[in-house]
Amino acid sequence: MPVICVASAKGGVGKTTLAVNLAALAADDNANALIIDLDPQRSAADWRTVRTAGRPLPRVAAATVDQLPELLAAAKAEGLNLVVLDTPPHATGEIFEAARLSDLVLIPVRPAVLDLRSAGRTLDGVAAMGKPYAVVLNACPTTGRGEAGVVRESREALAPHPVAPVALTQRAALQHAMIDGRAVHEYEPGGKAAAEMRDLYTWTRGKLTKW
Ligand SMILES: Nc1ncnc2c1ncn2[C@@H]1O[C@H](COP(=O)(O)OP(=O)(O)OP(=O)(O)O)[C@@H](O)[C@H]1O
Ligand SMILES: [Mg+2]
Repeated sequence: MPVICVASAKGGVGKTTLAVNLAALAADDNANALIIDLDPQRSAADWRTVRTAGRPLPRVAAATVDQLPELLAAAKAEGLNLVVLDTPPHATGEIFEAARLSDLVLIPVRPAVLDLRSAGRTLDGVAAMGKPYAVVLNACPTTGRGEAGVVRESREALAPHPVAPVALTQRAALQHAMIDGRAVHEYEPGGKAAAEMRDLYTWTRGKLTKW
């Protein structure tokens, strides 16, 4: 049962967006997926509460980091296929503890200089654990075709930290989908945001050996 931790000490970078969309795609892929919401803001749990009836998965459990070892053991005993951890901002100790209990850490970062700088501490801390991790560049500017210059520059600035090959563009569909607890592939299945999220899901799944 792989555990993905979506983490960043910076607020508003897309942790919850990433966590709920990846878990919902996994559920679509026949995985019995659980999101553990470790953020007292409870955004992922709220997303689940308003989720349209008839969409049972993924489940969301609200918890504190102290409860995590026990919850993960219970999830494994229950035979769940995937756990995604949504973590709070501004809580470095909790973020690192959650990362330590995970198999893969995804760190969303917006491609702007202040965001790149402030991601440094999370990135260095996770890198020091020797655990698989990657930056996911999120809310990138749209371009007619190909990758925006700022995305290329961000990849260079983040080196040697690994950066997922799939970057997520700033798209209103990602915000609209959250209103009634949908994932973007459920809100606009043929849209570009859904296509990017699916590509990110496929790449993420390929990084996990215990699936
Ligand atoms: N790629 C994107 N395109 C458009 N809007 C986005 C994108 N990613 C995130 N957002 C929006 O940005 C806001 C912050 O996203 P989100 O709540 O996922 O971040 P977060 O890191 O979980 O925040 P917090 O640190 O407060 O928990 C939300 O309104 C979300 O809908
Ligand atoms: Mg959040």
